[in-house]
Amino acid sequence: MWFVVYTVCLRRQTVRKRGFVGAFLQCKRHRDANVSHFGHSAGRHAHTCQALVYRNHGDPSRVVQLEDVALPPTGAKDVLVKLLAAPVNPSDLNMIQGTYAILPGLPAVGGNEGVAQVVEVGSQVESLRTGDWVIPRDAGLGTWRTEAVLAEDDVISLPNDIPLLAAATLGVNPCTAFRMLSDFEELKSGDSVIQNAANSGVGQAVIQIAAARGINTINVIRDRSDFAQLKERLKAMGASHVINEEALRRPEMKELFKTCPKPKLALNGVGGKSATELLRHLQVGGSMVTYGGMSKQPVTVPVSALIFKDVKVRGFWVTQWKRDHARDESAFRAMMDELCSVIQQGKLTAPACTEVHLRDYQKALDAAMQPFTSSKQVLLM
Ligand SMILES: NC(=O)c1ccc[n+]([C@@H]2O[C@H](COP(=O)([O-])OP(=O)(O)OC[C@H]3O[C@@H](n4cnc5c(N)ncnc54)[C@H](OP(=O)(O)O)[C@@H]3O)[C@@H](O)[C@H]2O)c1
Repeated sequence: MWFVVYTVCLRRQTVRKRGFVGAFLQCKRHRDANVSHFGHSAGRHAHTCQALVYRNHGDPSRVVQLEDVALPPTGAKDVLVKLLAAPVNPSDLNMIQGTYAILPGLPAVGGNEGVAQVVEVGSQVESLRTGDWVIPRDAGLGTWRTEAVLAEDDVISLPNDIPLLAAATLGVNPCTAFRMLSDFEELKSGDSVIQNAANSGVGQAVIQIAAARGINTINVIRDRSDFAQLKERLKAMGASHVINEEALRRPEMKELFKTCPKPKLALNGVGGKSATELLRHLQVGGSMVTYGGMSKQPVTVPVSALIFKDVKVRGFWVTQWKRDHARDESAFRAMMDELCSVIQQGKLTAPACTEVHLRDYQKALDAAMQPFTSSKQVLLM
């Protein structure tokens, strides 16, 4: 029987194909035939999946809704995947708020990273098999959903013997940390890196990857009632020093630099005064890389830092790195292999996480908006 329904249908165009981010959904008149029979899809019956959809920009816990979404047929070069877990990152929230640099067309499914298991492969798929774990290659796939049909080229496989939460949170923050520690300064064992927002997902990955390479980290966090506890947690991960923002401004910093060299690299996820303070401690000729602006304050660079220390003020965006290397399979694969190897050695773990079932998404979205939580919300499907 044919009947007309309003539904949302995931369109599989990728960021590369469309040139902008998109967890592309189109709201259109739609016959049930679109969701009931798939040409070559190995007898799979048509079905919908559940997804966290937003139709307007705004407060995430108000505009996001759990909906049934039609799955398109699995094409010859596609895979059908079952999402296992997907985090709630600041950029996901900013996209929903409409404040991020790139925005999907609306309506859209939220979420940019997560781990999925392949449950069906198209007839021309060569690199993936049923059972493989995969993560998105680029932002914009809309990972807050139970299932998706994706092009083979949209995902990259991972070993499925790594912890689920490490896999779910691997594609954005550890990649960002890895690149920032690799691409801006030549760091060798014994060198130092200073960073703010050290308890963030990126910060925790920086601490662990740096420790695995023998690099000292000076980690700055905002003061809080459980500062001592958080400091111990970060030190247990491999942080060399953990200080609060106020300590960064005090003369006692001189004492700290008796135990480790001044940093060659500063990683700034905050902006404002915090970034300026990081710059004050850089070595002559060192680099500050800004990757986030959690305080929503601009970065002010003292004239003296430029004249007398010739610091380099740079920026990094992992989405751009992935796009720049979209045709260079070996670069992405090499990074993934190295990160997965560090995970398998137990030297890189997922950030502290709160696991929340997809149906309790509002709790996760609300919690992800709160300061001082030090825990990444991860949706389990
Ligand atoms: N450029 C890139 O390629 C790239 C890649 C990944 C992430 N990012 C960006 O990096 C930042 C961190 O992401 P994430 O996933 O690691 O975050 P996360 O795990 O959610 O942690 C958020 C961090 O921001 C801090 N924070 C929140 N509000 C703040 C404020 N007003 N002032 C100072 N610090 C504040 C939090 O500290 P408290 O515990 O003190 O609240 C926490 O350390 C975000 O801006 C994100 O968009 C950029």
